[in-house]
Amino acid sequence: MSKVVIINHPLIQHKLSIVRDQKTSPVDFRTLISEIGSLMTYEATRDINVKEITVQTPIAEAKCYDIADNIVICPVLRAGLGMADGIHKMIPSAKMGHIGLYRDEETLLTQKYYCKLPVTIADSTVILVDPMLATGNTAVCAVDILKEAKVKKIIYVGLVGVQEGIDQLQKHHPDVDIYLAAKDAVLNEHGYIIPGLGDCGDRLFGTK
Ligand code: URA
Repeated sequence: MSKVVIINHPLIQHKLSIVRDQKTSPVDFRTLISEIGSLMTYEATRDINVKEITVQTPIAEAKCYDIADNIVICPVLRAGLGMADGIHKMIPSAKMGHIGLYRDEETLLTQKYYCKLPVTIADSTVILVDPMLATGNTAVCAVDILKEAKVKKIIYVGLVGVQEGIDQLQKHHPDVDIYLAAKDAVLNEHGYIIPGLGDCGDRLFGTK
């Protein structure tokens, strides 16, 4: 079974408390979400592969390590874009994929409306980014899409999740490690996390 890591680092928790505050402006919200993304990358990439390289310093040769995996950062549109920006700052050489999903209000099934992945994504390590792990259906669908594209490994990075979403993702994809900054209580009848932080996409882009 995969790992579920709640990163309770003081810096992340401090920033998350401001992000949760309904008074926080979209500008600050975006900045903080990106910063949390950067900080979480430190822990979420702990197990990626490295290769030994030799670097010539001004004094002598040094044995160093470089990232060996092809990393692809893949936000789920549109809420994933904010954290993905911070992750990309930490791994600027990573390629980006984008997956657009919505929930059909009649069938309640997750539908794909957009998918653009790097042509070289097969055998990559993908950091799948979706801040709110609520029902888990979006995450399951995004992982299905990535596995169809034959990626080697998937690391899920989110901000806030609930047990229901974690269980749903692990049930369908027990090989995907999950990194979150907080695990909240439950979902309300509209599928929002309580207490959560509201609609992450709307708060990032000021659409409500
Ligand atoms: N998506 C959000 O933006 N917020 C939630 O609480 C759940 C899903």
